[in-house]
Amino acid sequence: PLVTSTEMFKKAYDGGYAIGAFNVNNMEIVQGITEACQEEHAPVILQVSKGARAYANHTYLVKLVEAAVECCPDIPIVLHLDHGPDFETCKSCIDGGFTSVMIDASGKPFAENIEITKKVVEYAHDHGVVVEAELGTLAGIEDEVKVAAHEASYTRPEEVEEFVSKTGCDSLAIAIGTSHGAYKFKPEQCTRNEKGILVPPPLRFDVLEEVSKRLPGFPIVLHGSSSVPQEYVKMVNEFGGQMPNAIGVPEEQLRQAAKLSVCKINIDSDLRLAMTGTIRKFMAEHPDKFDPREYLKPARANIKELVRHKLVDVLGCAGKA
Ligand code: G3H
Ligand code: 13P
Ligand code: NA
Ligand code: ZN
Repeated sequence: PLVTSTEMFKKAYDGGYAIGAFNVNNMEIVQGITEACQEEHAPVILQVSKGARAYANHTYLVKLVEAAVECCPDIPIVLHLDHGPDFETCKSCIDGGFTSVMIDASGKPFAENIEITKKVVEYAHDHGVVVEAELGTLAGIEDEVKVAAHEASYTRPEEVEEFVSKTGCDSLAIAIGTSHGAYKFKPEQCTRNEKGILVPPPLRFDVLEEVSKRLPGFPIVLHGSSSVPQEYVKMVNEFGGQMPNAIGVPEEQLRQAAKLSVCKINIDSDLRLAMTGTIRKFMAEHPDKFDPREYLKPARANIKELVRHKLVDVLGCAGKA
């Protein structure tokens, strides 16, 4: 069924696991994700960005998710707005069938973030919809990382209690060193292990711990949590792509976060990589084929297996539906 994340997060918090929040943009992505979740009995959050709504159209995405809800009767599914930029976008999704919205005013000053978030929470709660908010900024961390002042980008634990109590938000996204996209760390920030593989600097678990202490029982969200599987980076590069130094968050750290107060882990780039790598390979190996179904089928299958791996081996939410 289509649900809010309230019950999901409560169970995840108490059970020491996290729900996967996967971005959806088209039918094959929705199917790949939800087929894995149905087979693994995992609750799931399907999230739609402003860009996804611009690409696919709000109604198409809602109907695709409704189809998934019908085809996966055994699992709870949340339809969530990812990075809602303003009240109007959130309102449009609340009125248009979403069960959860994110208002991302994290780029605004603290007081303004509170004001905007509070307004969204009031409207959302009146309509039975839950709200994720954000404190701290993910973007730009990479660029500033060598400067001591980059500390300012991380969530300031001393602000979280006031923010949550004044806004009434239902979950909180924090910045502890992740970032969006396939290039999360610069090679010069990384060290090399025995095998010569780049190892990025660890996430700031001290910040997460401090936040959790101040917000006991409150669900925390991690954005920018793709691990950028090197298997797919290699596939992309082997078949005509150019993604040098693509690097993500090691899965071991996501596993650790999922056991703590983190209840929602956002993954988009990994799905994009699986899809693009698979299609590049297919195209290179079958230059004569031109039926889109032939390359979208293996792309969808690989998204499904990637999501299955996340549910079972990283998030710990398999069997929790
Ligand atoms: O946070 C960003 C998500 O990966 C969505 O990306 O805005 O390109 O749809 P997008
Ligand atoms: P990735 O780019 O790491 O997949 O993060 C996605 C995300 O945070 C969507 O909100
Ligand atoms: Na957790
Ligand atoms: Zn995000």
